[in-house]
Amino acid sequence: MNKVKVTDGIFYVGVDDETIDLFESQYEVPEGVSYNSYVIMDEKIAVMDTVDKRKTEEWMEKLQGVLEDRTPDYLIISHLEPDHASSIKILAEKYPAMQLVGNAKTFQMFGNFFQMDIEGRTVVVKEGDSLSLGKHELSFYMAPMVHWPEVMVEYEKTEKVLFSADGFGKFGALRMKESPAEAKLEDWACEARRYYFNIVGKYGAPVQTLLKKASGLDIQMICPLHGPVLKENLEYYIGKYQTWSSYEPEDKGILIAYASIHGNTKEAAYKLAEYIGEKEKVVLTDLSRQDMSEAIEDAFRYDRMVVAAPTYDGGMFPVMEDFLRHLKSKAYQKRKVGIIENGSWAPMAGKLMKGLLEEMKQIEVIEPVVTVTSALNEASTKAIEALAESLVK
Ligand code: FEO
Repeated sequence: MNKVKVTDGIFYVGVDDETIDLFESQYEVPEGVSYNSYVIMDEKIAVMDTVDKRKTEEWMEKLQGVLEDRTPDYLIISHLEPDHASSIKILAEKYPAMQLVGNAKTFQMFGNFFQMDIEGRTVVVKEGDSLSLGKHELSFYMAPMVHWPEVMVEYEKTEKVLFSADGFGKFGALRMKESPAEAKLEDWACEARRYYFNIVGKYGAPVQTLLKKASGLDIQMICPLHGPVLKENLEYYIGKYQTWSSYEPEDKGILIAYASIHGNTKEAAYKLAEYIGEKEKVVLTDLSRQDMSEAIEDAFRYDRMVVAAPTYDGGMFPVMEDFLRHLKSKAYQKRKVGIIENGSWAPMAGKLMKGLLEEMKQIEVIEPVVTVTSALNEASTKAIEALAESLVK
């Protein structure tokens, strides 16, 4: 089996999962996902995280290929979420002399997941502690809530590598042959952004704290737990994380997120897009049919959004309510939002959408709120034109 080198002393032993239907049972991953794991080979050997139990066997084979007849001294546990930690037990049982390295929170949570005796096998690290492997030395930085409380990252100072846990992760299998994991810049942001906002989005402040810590380190390479190893133009990736974690829009543009029962609200959404025309970038998404995580990504990506939905059972059409509640839980903020409601006899959706938006921080509702009563007519078409004007002003 080929060993995949990240550097002379660091090897990639991660695995692709291309058959999972939904990551975390909610995110479509048409290109799969990778569970990354690395091994630092030195006088002492450190395994950097494990993989999802769906891929334990394949990972163990790769690991064995790198270890040959040596035994790992340490397993570094950056994150206990099962996509990275569910193979811990099998590794720990295979190598009873191997020590488990985590922080106080790691071991506080460890027993929730694993029924095993780790007495005398733990190395508890805290902020700034280091662990020498020989030529390599790992320093530990706590990253609580990026995006679980026990998360920590490691910096290897000889090769200047940051092991960034879920940070800088991306959906998509690596499909690597022999070269270390890498991807072109333009490929990276699309699925890294969807990953970020849907999984880490709520935790902008902890990500900012981590970025501040990272800014004090000389980082030449980032090894995340999902997606490619990042080696060049690191300022590009770090810049994206600065923008995303501060909830600033990344691009100028308008997302029109609509839900439509019989097509009339959809027509209103398309009419708005037509009025905006060439003046601004417009992205339309049908919340009933298109992927929710993509809609959430676009809501954060652009500086303006319009929500359009009918009234249903006296409330908001369910997929719109789901969308707005998702946005709220991901801390959507600092955006201008327009509203188009539809209702044949007692329109309520506008009031309810506005109410949910008002629960979010720094959301400015753009006037006029448009009411369509069933199908577009002259008055509602005019109101849509007025909304288009306000949006592009
Ligand atoms: Fe990739 Fe939070 O686990």
